[in-house]
Amino acid sequence: MIDTFKALADVTRLRLVGVLSKGEFTVQELTSVLAMGQSRVSRHLKILSDAGILSVKRQGTWAYYRLKGDNQFFLDIWPTMEQSLNSVANRERDLERVSEILDSRRRRSLEFFDRHARQWDDFSRNLLSVPSYLAALLNEIPVCRVIVEVGVGTGNILASLSRKAPKVVGVDHSPAMLDEARLRVGQEGLAGIEFRLGEMSHLPLGDNEVDCLLLNMVLHHAALPERVFQEACRILAPGGRLVIADLQRHDQDWVRDKLADQWLGFERTELEAWLAGAGFSCARFVPVYGTVGQQGVFILAAGRIED
Ligand SMILES: C[S@@+](CC[C@H](N)C(=O)[O-])C[C@H]1O[C@@H](n2cnc3c(N)ncnc32)[C@H](O)[C@@H]1O
Repeated sequence: MIDTFKALADVTRLRLVGVLSKGEFTVQELTSVLAMGQSRVSRHLKILSDAGILSVKRQGTWAYYRLKGDNQFFLDIWPTMEQSLNSVANRERDLERVSEILDSRRRRSLEFFDRHARQWDDFSRNLLSVPSYLAALLNEIPVCRVIVEVGVGTGNILASLSRKAPKVVGVDHSPAMLDEARLRVGQEGLAGIEFRLGEMSHLPLGDNEVDCLLLNMVLHHAALPERVFQEACRILAPGGRLVIADLQRHDQDWVRDKLADQWLGFERTELEAWLAGAGFSCARFVPVYGTVGQQGVFILAAGRIED
C-alpha cells in the first residue's frame, strides 16, 4: 500500500495514469501528450511499472504502456481515484492531446486505404498465406436478419454474406474503398446490400439493431480496439454475435509503414479481456496457421450477453 501511494504521489505520474486510463500509448506518444522530455517520462513510467500499476505490451520493436499491472490494491482504489482525476493539473489539455493522437492513428489508416483502394484487391492477394480462413470465418456467421461488416473494404465476401441475411450493411471509413465495394455489388447484381461511411469506434447504426457484426482484417487498424468492442456491444441485439478474423500476434514491424497497421496482431488473452469488459462471452477462438514464416490468423466468435 505504501509503495502504491508513493508511486502515485506525484503530479506527472498522476497525469500518466490519467492518460493511460484512455488507452495504450508508446513513450513517444506519452512524451508528446505531457510535453516533456523522453527520459523524464521514462523515469516516471518505470516507477509506475515497478509498483505494478502499469504493464508493457511489446509490439515488435515498439512498447505500449497500459494501465493493467498486477497491483490489486491499485485496481481496488482506481474507480474512486478516476472520479477525482479532473482536478489533476493539465487534465483538459492532456485529454485533448490524447484525442489528437487517436485521430492521427485513424487518419493514417484512412489515407492509406483511400490511396490504395483501386489496387487493393491485387495488392492484398499476396498478403496472407491462409486462404482457408474465409471458409472457417463464414461458418461462424449465422443465418439471420441483419449482418453488418465493418471495414468492408472492396466487399469481397458480400456475396457470401447476402446468402446469410436479407439485409447486409457494409461500413468503412474510406470513401474510395466503399466506391470499389459499390462497383462490385453492381457488377455481381447483389440485392439487399447497403453501404455507410463510418468509423469503427462510432458506428453509424442504432442500439441493438444488428444480429451479427463481422470484422474481417480490420481490428488491427483500430486506434483503440477496446473501444470497438464496446461499440459492437451497443449495436448488437442481446444474444447477437460478433465474429472477428484478424492476425495473431507477430513481430513484423514493416506492416506499420507498408500497410498502415496500428497493431501487430492480437493475443487471445487481451481479446478475451476486452470482450468480457464490453459485455461478450467468447464462444470460440480458432487459430489458423499460414506457411512457415507467415503470419497466423485467428477467428473469434463471441455472443453479446443478454441484458
Ligand atoms: C485490410 S482491409 C480489409 C477489407 C476487407 N474486410 C477484407 O478482408 O478484404 C481494412 C479495411 O478496413 C477499413 N478501416 C480501417 N480502419 C477503419 C476504421 N477505423 N473504421 C472503419 N473502417 C476502417 C479500411 O478502409 C479497409 O477498407
